[in-house]
Amino acid sequence: GGRSHAPDDGDVLDVLMTGLSGLEYRGYDSAGVALADSSLSVHKRQGEVSALEDALPDGSVGGRAGIGHTRWSTHGPPSDANAHPHTDCTGTVAVVHNGIIENYQVLREELETAGHTFESETDTEVIPHLIEDALEAGADRESAFRRAVNQLEGSYAVAAVFCESETVYAARHESPLVLGIGEDGHYLASDVPAFIEYTDRVIYLDDGEFATVSPSGVVVTDDEGTVVETSIETIEWDPEDAGKSGYDHYMLKEIYEQPQAIRKCLRERVNEMEGTITVDDLADLESSGPVQFVACGTSYHAALYGAQLLRERGIPAQCFLASEYDVDSIPVSEETLVVGVTQSGETADTMSALRGANRVGATTVALTNVVGSSAARECDHAMYIRAGPEIGVAATKTFASQQVALALFSSVISGECSQAFVEALRDLPDQVQSVLDNSTAREVAQTYEDADAYFFIGRGYNAPVALEGALKMKEITYKHAEGFAAGELKHGPLALVTDRTPVFAMVSDDGTAAKTLGNVKEVEARDAPVVAVTDSRETVDQYADFVLEVPETHPVLMPILANIQLQLVSYWIANRLGRSIDKPRNLAKSVTVE
Ligand code: G6P
Repeated sequence: GGRSHAPDDGDVLDVLMTGLSGLEYRGYDSAGVALADSSLSVHKRQGEVSALEDALPDGSVGGRAGIGHTRWSTHGPPSDANAHPHTDCTGTVAVVHNGIIENYQVLREELETAGHTFESETDTEVIPHLIEDALEAGADRESAFRRAVNQLEGSYAVAAVFCESETVYAARHESPLVLGIGEDGHYLASDVPAFIEYTDRVIYLDDGEFATVSPSGVVVTDDEGTVVETSIETIEWDPEDAGKSGYDHYMLKEIYEQPQAIRKCLRERVNEMEGTITVDDLADLESSGPVQFVACGTSYHAALYGAQLLRERGIPAQCFLASEYDVDSIPVSEETLVVGVTQSGETADTMSALRGANRVGATTVALTNVVGSSAARECDHAMYIRAGPEIGVAATKTFASQQVALALFSSVISGECSQAFVEALRDLPDQVQSVLDNSTAREVAQTYEDADAYFFIGRGYNAPVALEGALKMKEITYKHAEGFAAGELKHGPLALVTDRTPVFAMVSDDGTAAKTLGNVKEVEARDAPVVAVTDSRETVDQYADFVLEVPETHPVLMPILANIQLQLVSYWIANRLGRSIDKPRNLAKSVTVE
């Protein structure tokens, strides 16, 4: 994330540091700021934003405009030198950048030949040097910035400040950038939480746009410099939601917010009296063709579930990892409905898949949590999951909300909706609450925190949850974990099963129980501890070392409840192991590079 601020008054550094904390979930391997005064003051450090805080000089740092950045490394490892902002040779301009500059090597060689020296291994550092060149060739600051940006290939959200200036110059191409319009200053960031404390009025920049932010106002132009009409939107998130509210970690808070998140997702969409489901977000959507889901990470697991739901309802549906989706090599046509499942709406792999789908004329839907996100704007339709802001890097409540949204989506697309399903949806938030209230996951965590590895198995609707259970475990405990469709375990992974590898088995009373129980017996016979997550205790009791119960519900909704038990187990193991739960090593919440 990068941000900048040009207030009439007040401490720009404070605003920058608050902004970086609000964006840290997007990257946290190094951080830096640059303030523009008679000269530039640049401070940067490897590590989290708190490390930068400690490294700042005592007393105030002057300047009425500034930029800051918190990094998730792509080119060059985390280090002080590779941290942003980057400057030119003369110390005139400082730059922060998100994205990847694909032609940076060529540019760097040219610049080095022309006498520029580089201090970092980043792709970003070419930008201040390109600006320096343009300034030397006589360009004014704005044209120098434009000239530099126009030489870049790849993806970028970039912001620059110059010494002796109160203006921040910015540009976006395939990386998010949003302007905040405040009373005492203006803001610029890759995501709204950076400045939500100061303003809820925003302008989303589009690809190819430039912004000039100064105390006298904000001007948005296209790549030729023509002023673009913009509209100011108001963000509805409550800044309070972005706090920890007494929980030790955002992740735990967000796990406990799931009843409320699901309620919000269902609101005004499910009509119990009439036994119908309607989603206003999709009012204009007409689709009768096949459906293809594209997604990454946790969202991919939700998408697998969505595809299953549609197939069960008679609609041909496939699910692709967004990074593997290639419109040139698979059948996708104007009849195809392509659904991007993405919490942030900013994941580069997913964006690129959706752009591909749009290019070949498919109808596209973004299933996302973020109004105004790149995916919401790229797609023909956007269905919002309404989970509220999620700060913990490991997705929890947004996964539950995606599952619920996809259950609604599948009803809307197929026109299939039973009274029993509607009633089960109505009861779901309370059932989630009862899982949270009664879970013994903490005991399971205590018993198995030292295990060598964890396996997760589930069949049918519970197969994606097995994958998600393992992903959550890996992300926050750093322990080896794998998830499988229950039937697959015996086809190889069983070789890894020992008395030191607990197996978490989702056993659902939906007709798959007998077969899954067979798989449970196979691992039990190899001495593996078994933790059953089930809606029918009596079926599994005698085979399981632990039972994590969930209330009975419609079979389609069982995985939503089961997953909550798995979230809690991972959380408590990570907690006992003292891991950095909200900011696991090497990860970032939205990965805006491919
Ligand atoms: C990152 C996060 C994952 C997340 C994935 C997709 O890799 O670390 O937790 O599932 O991105 O994010 P999205 O915002 O597209 O759902």
